[in-house]
Amino acid sequence: MEYGLYSREDLKKEYEKVLKEYESLKSKGLKLDMSRGKPCSSQLDLGEELFSNISGKDCIVDNFDIRNYGLLEGIGPCRKLMADVLGVKPSQVFVGGNASLSLMYGVLTVAYVNGLRGCMPWGKLDGFKFLCPAPGYDRHFAMSGDFGAELVTIPMTDEGPDMDAVEEAVKDPAVKGIWCVPKYSNPTGVIYSDAVIERFAALKPAAEDFVIMWDNAYLVHEFRGDYKPFPDIISLQEKMGGTAAIYEFFSTSKITLPGAGVSCVAASEDDLKGISAHWGYQTISYDKINQLRHVKYLKSREHMLEIMKKHAEIIRPKFDIFVKSFEDELEGLGIASWTNPEGGYFMSFDSMPGCAKRIVSLMKEAGIVLTGAGATYPHGIDPEDKNIRIAPTMPPEEDIRLAAGAMCICVKLASLEKLLEK
Ligand SMILES: Cc1ncc(COP(=O)(O)O)c(C=O)c1O
Repeated sequence: MEYGLYSREDLKKEYEKVLKEYESLKSKGLKLDMSRGKPCSSQLDLGEELFSNISGKDCIVDNFDIRNYGLLEGIGPCRKLMADVLGVKPSQVFVGGNASLSLMYGVLTVAYVNGLRGCMPWGKLDGFKFLCPAPGYDRHFAMSGDFGAELVTIPMTDEGPDMDAVEEAVKDPAVKGIWCVPKYSNPTGVIYSDAVIERFAALKPAAEDFVIMWDNAYLVHEFRGDYKPFPDIISLQEKMGGTAAIYEFFSTSKITLPGAGVSCVAASEDDLKGISAHWGYQTISYDKINQLRHVKYLKSREHMLEIMKKHAEIIRPKFDIFVKSFEDELEGLGIASWTNPEGGYFMSFDSMPGCAKRIVSLMKEAGIVLTGAGATYPHGIDPEDKNIRIAPTMPPEEDIRLAAGAMCICVKLASLEKLLEK
């Protein structure tokens, strides 16, 4: 029965019961970190071959000795592999270093310092705005905030960002870009619908240098069911006639090794040249040896998808534990809702308004660190204080079981406190 239908007397009794459960939870002295979406060590073990799969004699690639300087845009086979995965042309792909975040930062830097498409650099404007579909990825919001952008929240729906709000917002020439995680969005796990993707592809913002930061970090990261093909927004834009500069990002951080993988950005050839011309000043070339290691290990799009099935086997049970705990313990109480995604690295949890911070702090007192409440909103402020990102991939299953059980207790306790406040 819903807590909302309990008498005050029954609410108090329930509160006393849950409080005891919480005290006993605290006495266990747990120490668990679920704050970030990291792979666990058995996932990292899958890429062991990367430590030994090439030698100097493999380094002549397309008649070029890749041990030397050169090939700023990356080695041919790696550009081709990434192009196959993204569904674009190799000439539209720039392979960078270990982190797609650096490439995103690099695009914003060029926009800010040099200007995109011949426009005034953002740094010389009186101010500019960036659209942040929320709940979303905290590092995205923080990055545009770091460039001094005014962050504008766009509500997320089950199909992606609220496109009516996006289309309205881009009429303002001071609005210079938007963050998107189109497949298995961080943290909701939402996959943008075809209709939403088409509206992005058709978008005609007032600002000529408006950027769609299309971060396809979880493009191949199904953990339930087969790979779901996803449209290539760059060729779609040609058909739909949109005018925004689309930069699509991808990396192997959660396919091979975070921090030692390979990242890339895809864009129209002109937009790609617009940024790589400037990036050429900061480096002569990225780590091409690592690019080759990755080509040898990942082999092809099909083989990459095979590797992702191995990751899925490891992480699916962890998501299942959370979903089952929530269903068993919280379903029907009217105090929470959660997403149950089929891929990506996160689940999104909504408590009763005004309870998220309290839940996260109760968990912390019990020894379990979650992503900070509010982190999924611009400036770390969730206006309703209800969203919590759950990142279940890293701890072992037995810890996940403890964490999921603990979270149900903390959610009940925080909700009962709130209901008893009235
Ligand atoms: C949506 C999204 N983009 C990018 C990253 C980081 O990617 P990289 O390691 O390629 O910088 C993450 C990591 O959690 C993420 O969730």
